Amino acid sequence: MTIVLDDRKLFTDGHHHAQNRVKIAVKDVNLWYGHGEKHALKDVNLDIYEREVTAFIGPSGCGKTTLLKCLNRMNDEIPGVVLEGSITVDGKNIYDRHFEACEYRRRFGWVAQVPNPFAKSIHANVAYGARIHGVVNGRRQMDGLVEDCLRRANLWEEVKDRLDESALSLSGGQQQRLCIARALSTEPEIILMDEPCSALDPQATMMVEELIGELKARHTVIIITHNLQQAARVSQRTAFFHLGNLMESGDTQTLFVHPETRQLKDFVTGNYG
Ligand SMILES: Nc1ncnc2c1ncn2[C@@H]1O[C@H](COP(=O)(O)OP(=O)(O)O)[C@@H](O)[C@H]1O
Ligand SMILES: [Mg+2]
Repeated sequence: MTIVLDDRKLFTDGHHHAQNRVKIAVKDVNLWYGHGEKHALKDVNLDIYEREVTAFIGPSGCGKTTLLKCLNRMNDEIPGVVLEGSITVDGKNIYDRHFEACEYRRRFGWVAQVPNPFAKSIHANVAYGARIHGVVNGRRQMDGLVEDCLRRANLWEEVKDRLDESALSLSGGQQQRLCIARALSTEPEIILMDEPCSALDPQATMMVEELIGELKARHTVIIITHNLQQAARVSQRTAFFHLGNLMESGDTQTLFVHPETRQLKDFVTGNYG
């Protein structure tokens, strides 16, 4: 194996625990863009477990973001998307026509590739999510929630004396942790992260990775990453995609150390990316 083995943090937390409950079950999912023109997901079957981190890896354009957006029904917004198959969360089919998409999306937090705080104060960024979802009443309760979310995002100590300053005055890494704090403010069950560290330097990346490790105590976390070492450091399960197919999924260390398909072998040995 040639993934960097001198990184001592690889696989320290890289094991799936069989007793964890399935939170999301993706069954026979096919997705086409452009009214059937582009077949972006092909017969995808995947279980995602509660209170662990699942990493989606694979070459660019293989369908990772597409599947992530199926999970919180973000693809509903795109005209011409055709979806077949089923996705259940806690056993309920989220594409059932009785399912209320807005109410449903509230159960998710989304962390984007590039930190995207609002041009408002640090406090207002975190309060925003809680306010639109009506999670709290009154200033005291809101301040408490803002502090709690900032603490859980490992940002409180750095910002507690400047909550009224603009979020845009923070560094990139702090902004991304603020976006995570904002995502936490709606009390999501599931946190979706699409390459959350791709715009961050190594130090900031390390802090976000530590945070991801902590988030799984209370949330189901899915992270897309193009960084294999990152997947090996933060995830317990990994799903490898290739040209719209889910080629392999399972316990992270097992998948990396004993890849079964030629495509994954090539991918982990850096023969293409
Ligand atoms: N809105 C869209 N309309 C048409 N094709 C799309 C759209 N979004 C993504 N695609 C295509 O679907 C495939 C999968 O894309 P994506 O899920 O973004 O890949 P990844 O996240 O793995 O890089 C790619 O070929 C991409 O060009
Ligand atoms: Mg993507």
